[in-house]
Amino acid sequence: MSSNRIRLGVNIDHVATVRNARGGFHPDPIRAALLAEKAGADGITAHLREDRRHIKDSDIERLMAEISIPLNFEMAATEEMLEIATRLKPASSCIVPEKREELTTEGGLDVIGSYNHLKEYIGNLKAAGVSVSLFIDPDPDQIKASKELGADKVELHTGSYVDASGKIREDELERLRVGAKRCGELDLEVHAGHGLNYETVEAVAKIKEFTEFNIGHFLIGEAIFVGLESTINEMRRLMDKGRNNC
Ligand code: PXP
Repeated sequence: MSSNRIRLGVNIDHVATVRNARGGFHPDPIRAALLAEKAGADGITAHLREDRRHIKDSDIERLMAEISIPLNFEMAATEEMLEIATRLKPASSCIVPEKREELTTEGGLDVIGSYNHLKEYIGNLKAAGVSVSLFIDPDPDQIKASKELGADKVELHTGSYVDASGKIREDELERLRVGAKRCGELDLEVHAGHGLNYETVEAVAKIKEFTEFNIGHFLIGEAIFVGLESTINEMRRLMDKGRNNC
């Protein structure tokens, strides 16, 4: 496998969404994480939201104890999450904007608007040995500010690309291309995620600067029909196809 291979982080939040619909323990998101690991996932992503609507504190603790691949801990830049991240020390954190009323993470973090708060916050995470990613839109100013803040990496929000069609989708893909290139020039590791599916992943995989994709909702939804292992295998195949053709 080429060194240029894109890592696949599987987001298991929505296994917890289904579990929580009835309370109790089934389906268990940690079982899904272990299955994803067996199917070749390179990492597991989980978002502990303030309202605990899907992943719970105990899920994060169990993930840390039970999986062998790195945990990417998605979190808002709050004091509560800082305490949890610095205590549990996941391999990496991904700071996302969070609004109580949103269905999912809408748009990227305003790194420029929260510059001073994030500076100290990122410093605290890094001092605890937690690598830091910032989830941002593919905006050159946000990318530059992320680098200046000392983030280890950024994740570019792919939602606007995925949700668009025709010429607008092409324009959004170009924004991702330009943003990823800018990250490369700044020597800033760059990931991508949000809404990616079989139809949209290949074109993003062709952008050579991307080193990791974090994908959840589509994988978990598709797994209902064909199983998690074959869903991950197909996503992997399309990612490799895109990357080998770039
Ligand atoms: N990356 C980040 C930072 C996210 O917030 C999310 C959604 O939780 C994802 C990736 C995965 O998005 P999706 O579930 O739409 O694949």
